[in-house]
Amino acid sequence: MVKKNACVFISGEGTNLKNLIRRSRDYCFPITIKLVVCNNPKAKGINLAKKYSIPHIIIDTKLRNFENYILKNLRKYRISIICLAGYMKIISKNFIRNYRKKIINIHPSLLPKFKGLNTFSRVLKKKEIKTGCTVHYVNEKLDAGRIISQKSFYILPDFNEKDVKDRTQKLEYLAYPEAILKIFRISS
Ligand code: GAR
Repeated sequence: MVKKNACVFISGEGTNLKNLIRRSRDYCFPITIKLVVCNNPKAKGINLAKKYSIPHIIIDTKLRNFENYILKNLRKYRISIICLAGYMKIISKNFIRNYRKKIINIHPSLLPKFKGLNTFSRVLKKKEIKTGCTVHYVNEKLDAGRIISQKSFYILPDFNEKDVKDRTQKLEYLAYPEAILKIFRISS
């Protein structure tokens, strides 16, 4: 199988990155991770890139040209799909135009519900019965691109924020690889 070159954008823990690295080592999985982009020098996820010898760049989003620097690297590594995995920065319209329909994101709610930040506390506050995660294409509007895959679970009455987060993230590790398989039309 000819794999597509992927880049994963992270800002923090990198547990989704870890999961994608693990899956991409399977010869049947359609992507290989060639680059990690991170906007936080203290992100734990950087250590994963180092551990698995994946080139990584740490960007300073305060610099005016930081997106050009990313674009230059995406070209260098011939990246054809970008996976946002806990990347906590808004991507510019210009950047999205350059990689239209090639940027996907994982979000910890059942979109279109609970776009944006602090999803777990908002889900509990709203007394939702169900929640979950969504993998979607990235477009110019926040958390609003076409949905590729969703997974959900029921919220039990005694669930706290940590329970909701743990359950959601467990499902993320299934949903993200599944979405990638779906994009490349490989049934899981
Ligand atoms: C994930 O739960 C992801 O859904 C969320 O950040 C977490 C990153 O965890 N993303 C967002 O909230 C995007 N709006 P990770 O760094 O351990 O993969």
